[in-house]
Amino acid sequence: MYQTILTHTEQGICTITINRPDKMNALNKDVIQELGAALEAARIDTAVQALILTGAGEKAFVAGADITEFTELQAAGGKALATVGAELVFNKIEQFTKPIIAAVNGFALGGGCELAMACHFRIASENAKFGQPEVNLGLIPGYGGTQRLTQLIGKGKAMELLMTADMITANEALQLGLVNHVVPKEELLSLANLILTKICTKAPIAIQHIIHLVNQAAIGAKDGLQQEIDLFGACFDTEDKKEGISAFLEKRKASFKGA
Ligand code: COA
Repeated sequence: MYQTILTHTEQGICTITINRPDKMNALNKDVIQELGAALEAARIDTAVQALILTGAGEKAFVAGADITEFTELQAAGGKALATVGAELVFNKIEQFTKPIIAAVNGFALGGGCELAMACHFRIASENAKFGQPEVNLGLIPGYGGTQRLTQLIGKGKAMELLMTADMITANEALQLGLVNHVVPKEELLSLANLILTKICTKAPIAIQHIIHLVNQAAIGAKDGLQQEIDLFGACFDTEDKKEGISAFLEKRKASFKGA
């Protein structure tokens, strides 16, 4: 069905694999369109509870936007490219109501690092490498890199990585808090599945509120605490709250319905 990505759903977890390994899974227009379509399909599919984003092949998660598409672009075209990407993919992932984690299996450069950073959190294989090399091309990140890298690792480190275009290893990314776990590459997808399987046992509406509120905190929303109070209250009207409290009192595992 898709030409540039693969999707596979098993036990509530949809894995989307960007599949242009001979081009380091670079994000061309087709990948952006198809990722947007796959995200929309996953959003409305009640069988999908959580998502993993990864790259095909041994070398790359995503080595950036497809540089060959940049040659003819001028200001308006560049702005349009970034706007479409944000709407279809990057902001959509960040605000997705189901958890999405990036399983970074190799180079995550430029738009690839930005794609990983748009996900709710990241895990990486030992061979993963991260960087924002846009300044080497006379550009800056356009898919959220200046904002999300600063949110994730702080101003000083973000300034250095963005200005030097240096690549960092998975372990350096771990130290900076850019990724949460580093594992051998054979274990990457099983760890992603393990973490999401655990999250899928929790109350889906509560998870949805967590995603929203942490995103609000990350952008420094002035009313974040008030939003938390409001959504905390809203949880009390859910079926899942009744089930969660009953299960605790009855000393059994809760079975949540997302209602
Ligand atoms: N856009 C388009 N094509 C890309 C690409 C990108 N961002 N990244 C890699 N490719 C292509 C290469 O042009 C090459 O294509 P070819 O076989 O037709 O020549 C193929 O993918 C393999 O890449 P190659 O450079 O030969 O692999 P490598 O192992 O020597 O280096 C990288 C890997 C990731 C370090 C290197 O490809 C690179 O620096 N890519 C660009 C990263 C970048 O600047 N991203 C930000 C874009 S804004």
